[in-house]
Amino acid sequence: MSLPRLVILLSVVCFAAAEIRFSEIRSDSRPIIPFDEFGFTHLGQLEVNVTHLAFPEAPGASELSKVGFFLCTRDAWIHVLQQIEDAEINCVLGSDAVQRVFTLDQLPSPTASAFDYLYTETNADQYTLVFANCVPQLKVSMDVRSAMYNLEGSGSDRRDYLSAGKTVLPRVYFLLSMVYFALGFTWISVLYKKRATVFRIHFFMLAVVFLKALNLLCEAEDKSYIKRTGSAHGWDVLFYIFSFLKGITLFTLIVLIGTGWSFLKPFLQDKEKKVLMIVIPLQVVANIAQVVIDETGPFGQDWVTWKQVFLLVDVVCCCAVLFPIVWSIKNLREAARTDGKAAVNLMKLTLFRQYYIVVICYIYFTRVVVYALETITSYRYLWTSVVAGELATLAFYVFTGYKFKPEAHNPYFVVDDDEEEAAAERLKLEDEFEL
Ligand SMILES: *[C@@H]1O[C@H](CO)[C@@H](O)[C@H](O)[C@H]1NC(C)=O
Repeated sequence: MSLPRLVILLSVVCFAAAEIRFSEIRSDSRPIIPFDEFGFTHLGQLEVNVTHLAFPEAPGASELSKVGFFLCTRDAWIHVLQQIEDAEINCVLGSDAVQRVFTLDQLPSPTASAFDYLYTETNADQYTLVFANCVPQLKVSMDVRSAMYNLEGSGSDRRDYLSAGKTVLPRVYFLLSMVYFALGFTWISVLYKKRATVFRIHFFMLAVVFLKALNLLCEAEDKSYIKRTGSAHGWDVLFYIFSFLKGITLFTLIVLIGTGWSFLKPFLQDKEKKVLMIVIPLQVVANIAQVVIDETGPFGQDWVTWKQVFLLVDVVCCCAVLFPIVWSIKNLREAARTDGKAAVNLMKLTLFRQYYIVVICYIYFTRVVVYALETITSYRYLWTSVVAGELATLAFYVFTGYKFKPEAHNPYFVVDDDEEEAAAERLKLEDEFEL
């Protein structure tokens, strides 16, 4: 496969939040301008409203049929590229694999500067709306409003603006937020029962759980509003605020637990504070990037840049939070050898090693596995990757809460001599094998 083909293919293989979208095209001579991608059921509809259509030099009458909108699936697109390469066709709009929506020769008059078009899609599949301009050097300017939606039943005129694989997401988010609220209240009762051994970090954990619950609740509301109306409303500001606070507090919590703050030691060392000073501003950047990514859609001009910024920042944050855990593990090993309390330190050591592995699994699963799932699952089941990611997150929260819950009988401080001896043995063994 040649490089340009690959680039065009990759530019189409993206995931979009399907909503009503307004795009301004200004003196653009690109042969292909992709808009949005959407999963249609067999009751799909597409509205295209174009206004302020203008050309610096009017195209000839014969050329008008070479400019217009079409819908195309990913498989069909590969076929079209093959046809162009084999010189079977000279314009994408001439291919039988694409579904022509509107070409400019359908304009009521050649000088018309606006048109509305309603296209009905009955073949359920995932399509990308694309504008093709096969006239070389023809510069097009126009304002495009595009709306893709599915009708909720034949004969019904209720619209569902969420893509076929995402239409259950509002319910999924709502259920998950209820689970987190339940988790939060469970945590409160645990804190109350074990109040004698509660540390500050436990209240921080409570805040993290409630922020996650509120974030999911807003996301459910936001998505269900988009589902009904095709546009976001004021609530999405709340959603962004909670998702920002949630991001910051979650990463801070991982750092704080990793350093053993509040239950192993009441203060943070300088290098641990530095990690926080890196992670928190980066989270601010990540959230700004997320807002831009959501609002512009995959074919917006800066979308790719912001997506890269987001990925980079996310990777840096994920790596940064691992350092404090590694430092703690090192310190505990050292302490176990020198202070003669091998058993106590070994227990803490095991706990921190487990935590280290779980954090890595959590990061790997929510970043890599979820992305892979998103890529390989059919468009109709896109929600499954969201569910997989959220379940992994839930498991992580539960693990963290369970392992670091306030302990009434702190196992760290009740150790008999046999255990102490066994632990010392194990540490010695570990040192020999350099584990
Ligand atoms: C867009 O086009 C559709 C289909 O022709 C029409 O029903 C709708 O009213 C138009 N919307 C706007 C905002 O012009």
